[in-house]
Order: sequence, then C-alpha cells, then structure tokens
Amino acid sequence: MPLTSSQLKAAKFFVVVILLFLVQTSFGGLLAHYTIHPGSFFLPFVAKLITYNWAKTWHLQLMVFWIATTWLASAIYLAPIIGGKEPPRQGVVVQLLFGAVLLVAVGSLTGEVLGIKGMLGEWWFCLGHQGWEFLELGRIWQILLFGGLIFWLLVVYRAVGSHLASHKDDFSALIWFYVFSAVLVVAFFGFGLFYGKGSHLTMADYWRWFVVHLWVESIFEFFGMRSSHC
Ligand code: HEM
Repeated sequence: MPLTSSQLKAAKFFVVVILLFLVQTSFGGLLAHYTIHPGSFFLPFVAKLITYNWAKTWHLQLMVFWIATTWLASAIYLAPIIGGKEPPRQGVVVQLLFGAVLLVAVGSLTGEVLGIKGMLGEWWFCLGHQGWEFLELGRIWQILLFGGLIFWLLVVYRAVGSHLASHKDDFSALIWFYVFSAVLVVAFFGFGLFYGKGSHLTMADYWRWFVVHLWVESIFEFFGMRSSHC
C-alpha cells in the first residue's frame, strides 16, 4: 500500500520522539551526576541554573511525553492500513494534532521550570508545576493534553471506523480491542483531573495512582500489544 498523507505526517511525530528521548536521557545523566556530587557539574553554570527538581521533573515528564507520542504516531500510521483507506483531509487533522502536541510539550515543560523558579505566583498549579511525581505538568496543560488525546481518538476512529462498520470477520474483534484500548488510553489519563489544588493527600494520590499505575503500567502496554498484533 503506498504511503498516505497522514502516514507521511506521522513521521514528524517520531522525529519529535527521538529529540524528546535524547533530552530525557541527558537529564538522566545529569541526575546521576547530582546523585554522586549534589549541586555540582563539570560546567558550574549548569548546576547553578538547572536545579535537581528541574532535572528530575523533565526526566520524568519527557519520558511520559515520548512514550505517549510514540503511541499517538503509531496509531495514526496504522489506522489507514487497518481501515483500508485514507479518510478525507486526514493529513490536515494529523498536522493539527502535531501542533497541539508541540504546544503542550513546550508549554508544560516551560511552565514547570517557571514554577520551580517561583516565577508564576498564584498560577503555579494551573500553569507551572503541580508537585506530583509523573503528573508534574500544570493543570491547564493537563486539560489541554486530555483534549488532545480525545482529538487523537477521533482522528484514529475516522480511519478504522469504516472497517468496523463494514467488516464482520475474525479480524474485526482485534480491531475492536484496538479501539477499546485506545479509548482507555484517553480515559485513564482523565483520572488525573479528579483531584484539585487543595485535595487531601490521600485522595489526590489515589487518583494520581490511577494515572501512574493503571495508565502508564497497564493500559499503555495493552494498547501496545494490540498495535503490534494489528
Ligand atoms: C542514559 C539514560 C538514563 C539515565 C542516566 C537515567 C538516570 C536516572 C537517575 C539517576 C534517576 C534517579 C533520580 C533520583 O530520584 O534521584 C532516574 C530516575 C528515573 N528514571 Fe532514568 N535514566 C535514564 C533513562 C531513563 C529512561 C529511558 C526512562 C524511561 C523510559 C527512565 C525512567 C526513570 C524513572 C521513571 C525514574 C524515577 C524512578 C522513581 O523515582 O521511582 N530513565 N533515572
């Protein structure tokens, strides 16, 4: 099957994944250095500028971002193959999604640094750093990411939906699994919105754990397994 416009556009997501991965592992190296020599680095200005919590935050957030972007892109790539055709203007909507991914990644990472540096005042929770491991990003970025994931679901469904409506073969069951797991990828990220700035620690950590354990350590793998079978 010749590459469709949306499949070609999916390649850009993978370039972003590579860049995010390189930055993420570089911050891992910095963290390892800080563990042995706290507060210092070969280039002193680096240690002065990049505090430990900045390095740890970006190491974890970039990890979530590159893994999530990989799933988004692989689903976009597979969808026309599974559906058997490219939906109209699929390339344009994929391009929109790419812009949204960049906005949330750059915006939330910048907000986290500004929050850590105490430059956001009362906006620390909304735009800066929530203070929760793995859900560091500010609440507004979290909501935008949730919206972006819903948009991604619609983009993928546009391509695979026709197969589900018109085919009733053995392969359809696998595609239903694929679609359900994609829905769960979106739904379980949403549990991170169930706590607020003033929630009790037990409630906040309970919902955060839905995202950390059930989303990252369960639903993602389930979706990955379906994708590889498709
Ligand atoms: C060159 C590559 C890497 C290096 C040198 C590195 C280094 C580190 C270090 C030193 C820590 C401990 C930070 C601390 O709490 O003091 C850490 C934590 C962590 N790293 Fe990496 N890392 C690398 C790659 C990765 C990759 C590829 C991933 C995942 C895809 C990852 C995921 C994590 C996670 C989840 C933690 C937090 C663990 C926790 O707090 O329980 N790292 N890393």
